[in-house]
Amino acid sequence: MIRIHTQPAIRFEGQRPGTSGLRKKVGVFQQPGYLESFVQSLFDVLPDATGKTLVLGGDGRFHNREAIQVILRMAAAKGYARVFVGRGGILSTPAASAVIRRRGASGGIVLSASHNPGGPDGDFGIKYNIANGGPAPESLTEAVHARTLEVEAIQCVEAPDVPLDSDAVVRLGATSVEVIDPVADYAEVLRGLFDFDAMRRLFASGFRLRMDAMCAVGGPYAKAILEGELGAPVGTVVNAQPLEDFGGMHPDPNPVHAADLIRHMSGPGAPDMGAATDGDADRNLIVGRNFVVTPSDSLAVLAMHARKVPGYRDGIAGVARSMPTSTAVDRVAAALGVACFETPTGWKFFGNLLDAGLITLCGEESYGTGSSHVREKDGLWAVLFWLNLIAVTGESIEPLVRGMWREYGRCVYSRHDYEGIATADAQALMAGLRDQLDALPGREVQGMRIAAADDFAYIDPVDGSVSRGQGVRVVFADGSRLVLRLSGTGTEGSTLRLYLERFENDASRYGMDASEQLGAMVRAAEELAQIRRWTGMDAPTVVT
Ligand code: G1P
Ligand code: ZN
Repeated sequence: MIRIHTQPAIRFEGQRPGTSGLRKKVGVFQQPGYLESFVQSLFDVLPDATGKTLVLGGDGRFHNREAIQVILRMAAAKGYARVFVGRGGILSTPAASAVIRRRGASGGIVLSASHNPGGPDGDFGIKYNIANGGPAPESLTEAVHARTLEVEAIQCVEAPDVPLDSDAVVRLGATSVEVIDPVADYAEVLRGLFDFDAMRRLFASGFRLRMDAMCAVGGPYAKAILEGELGAPVGTVVNAQPLEDFGGMHPDPNPVHAADLIRHMSGPGAPDMGAATDGDADRNLIVGRNFVVTPSDSLAVLAMHARKVPGYRDGIAGVARSMPTSTAVDRVAAALGVACFETPTGWKFFGNLLDAGLITLCGEESYGTGSSHVREKDGLWAVLFWLNLIAVTGESIEPLVRGMWREYGRCVYSRHDYEGIATADAQALMAGLRDQLDALPGREVQGMRIAAADDFAYIDPVDGSVSRGQGVRVVFADGSRLVLRLSGTGTEGSTLRLYLERFENDASRYGMDASEQLGAMVRAAEELAQIRRWTGMDAPTVVT
């Protein structure tokens, strides 16, 4: 007979619902009762678990295994009928979404701090996904946050650790814990979308891909599918072994943190295609020879050619992009005659649109792209989509992107991050901007006329929920845009994100460097937001 043990909870401000789940330094999560109190708050808010199934896994970062054991004991005390846990405690974010959906679970807990560095001094994180496989909506995260302020008792069963390294079924009280293959369900979903034979022929013909898994959880997935099933040569996937500290890397697939991939993609001997995925394998970077694809362009190219891929042969219902993502996909959607939705930053806002069948493809400028096949962004899915397109069009990456520019114009794009700002200063900067909004339309800045300015608010077309204060947008007469918002995922101070987009439809200027083309936009942002004054910085800490 298994006993339920009750211990006092600690009350803490879990995290105001931000972009995705609770993210803190590992040391914070290691405090006795901290993780437990958060999980208890979640379980207190969720309905009765009798007869229900929970999915559990993480990106394998430092503290993953310990946290898995704690949550298993608590899930048993909550009374779940079944818990599916990925072997080794592993599930990438998109794979967790696939498992939740395919196995009819009521939800899942994913342990990840995404692309944030890991290890004893790095970050840890936890998020809850609902039955559709997607991130919890704000109403639920608000409720969990409120509960963290008053949670009283932590309940867990008394039981030894569950062995996680072989597929087995273990009973914890009345709960059946099943260790499952972390790749199988996910691979099955991808097989249903893409032309695996065409991709096999592509690799057989000598096509070379360098897939950098950044020592994170994407490695085993990429190896099984690219090398195992599609016949890519062994060694195609590099940094394939997931490490608890990501080998000291910052597993964020952008040109700054994936600099090694960018180096391999330049010069004469470069492979045909480069790609990278992040800590939990939901982000992606796509690179051609000497050519980096911006995520906004990637979404537009995938939308433009979707019908060439089996899973989207019948066309797409619509598209969505986060507000700061460039408007490239808007023009493609208009040409296809499908709807285009603009949502706040964060994947959770796509969930309702996908569930309602209003959209098929969606993406964010932050290297996230995905579709209706799961309810998370999906790094390897994006890589296979590009491979499938290359296989069936015979065109390589750069011509595919230039073809899209030729049809629709180019959105020259860049994001400037100012990290580690004192929170009060970051807030003062945003407040200063918000105060000017009404006076901006019609004003000239750096020779450009402002057409509209607002603090983005979103009304969900499906459930009518309203999200305000999602970032300041300044739109210029020619369609160029400046967006400023504070990050909701950082763990140190505040991060200001400045998004710059310039619309260019003069093909003779497509060759120009983005930084050259965006100079006036940068000066306009400085003039409006006084970034130097509030951050004390002369330059951004990261430019992507
Ligand atoms: C960042 C990205 C956002 C993404 C989120 C989770 O959030 O900007 O697009 O959904 O990470 O991967 P932020 O730190 O900007 O709030
Ligand atoms: Zn991620």
